[in-house]
Amino acid sequence: MHADRLLLDCRLATMAKTGVPYGTMEHGAVLIDGGRILYAGPQAELPQSAISGSNIVERLDGRWVTPGLIDCHTHLIFAGNRVEEFEARLNGASYEAIARGGGGILSTVRATRAAGIDDLAAGAEMRLARMIRDGLTTIEIKSGYGLDAESEMRMLSAARLLGRKAGVRVHATYLGLHAVPPDYAGDRRAYVAQVISNFLPRVVEAGLCDSADAFLETIAFDETDVRAFFDAARARNIPVRLHADQLTNGHGAKLAAAYGALSADHLEHCDAEGAAALAHAGTVAVLLPGAFVHLGETQKPPVALFRQHNVAIAIATDCNPGTSPLLSPLAAMNLACCCFGLTPEEALAGMTVHAACALGLSAVTGTLEAGKDADIAVWEIESPAELSYWAGVLPCRRSYARGKPLYTA
Ligand code: NIG
Ligand code: FE
Repeated sequence: MHADRLLLDCRLATMAKTGVPYGTMEHGAVLIDGGRILYAGPQAELPQSAISGSNIVERLDGRWVTPGLIDCHTHLIFAGNRVEEFEARLNGASYEAIARGGGGILSTVRATRAAGIDDLAAGAEMRLARMIRDGLTTIEIKSGYGLDAESEMRMLSAARLLGRKAGVRVHATYLGLHAVPPDYAGDRRAYVAQVISNFLPRVVEAGLCDSADAFLETIAFDETDVRAFFDAARARNIPVRLHADQLTNGHGAKLAAAYGALSADHLEHCDAEGAAALAHAGTVAVLLPGAFVHLGETQKPPVALFRQHNVAIAIATDCNPGTSPLLSPLAAMNLACCCFGLTPEEALAGMTVHAACALGLSAVTGTLEAGKDADIAVWEIESPAELSYWAGVLPCRRSYARGKPLYTA
């Protein structure tokens, strides 16, 4: 039996639904060939020929092995930063007031429009390198700081480039409705019409759009705008996701669910009806504790309702310069536990199996199971709950993306 690589003597947190917490298997082995997992399970059941037939055999001395982490909501590509707004908010200004005054998202739009593709990619590359040190193997990256066709395409091209260069899987999201750019002088409807008739078709035809996203909020876009955008995306077979119910209850969860969205994200103000709608549609609830903490929010997402309705919960960094300058998926898991009361097992599921679902990648990654891509992280921990317990440590020892070594500590 030939294989490229065999990992022996590991403890597996497969995150597969086996009925055991974390899908744990002690004394495990993982067999990898052609970038895929051929076998993940008890070492005792591995055919002897797998050991002799593997090009590389690595003994992991009982280390824990999990699926590679998946950050399913980031705005990783941007120029400049917003530290002066951070200071202004701590001196009493609100995020909404800063946005209405032409700062906020629009200040990052100005900086991003002025940056070249190489500069955008270089800044994001440093941020991605930090995330890879946390065991990340897949990342979603949104546009939304360009807001004209050229700048949005530059962001999305940079995202694709970054994935190829770093060796991680990138899901590129066209965040067409993030803010109304100054070129439309407050004429929101005219901007939405242009996005639908011109920008969306162009990013889709260029192959730069794996999903489409919008910001439904009193300071951003309303339900009519979002429906028109989602209808246009659906007509082109592009799945949708939504920044929903972050600052106010705009019934965004219900709207996302009505479109069979892959995910509804933020959700601090989601109500019972919204939670039931997400469950019914199979839309993943993506929680973003970095933005919650950074903005000093007090309203927490309704985790108890999500549990009650069996809504899949994912966790993401929401890495962005305005509301979540957070470069650590593990820190996002820690915050999800400490701020929102998730269990460490829910947090790890939120960064693996449920995050894969939020990206439409369940068949490909998110668990350690035969047939999936070999996206794998190896950890220096005594139990998988430690991944959510520590803050600020770097427990990842090595990782593999699609079977290839990605990171070694
Ligand atoms: O996910 N909510 C909208 N979008 C981002 C924030 C973007 C920004 O302020 O630059 C978010 O939090
Ligand atoms: Fe976001």
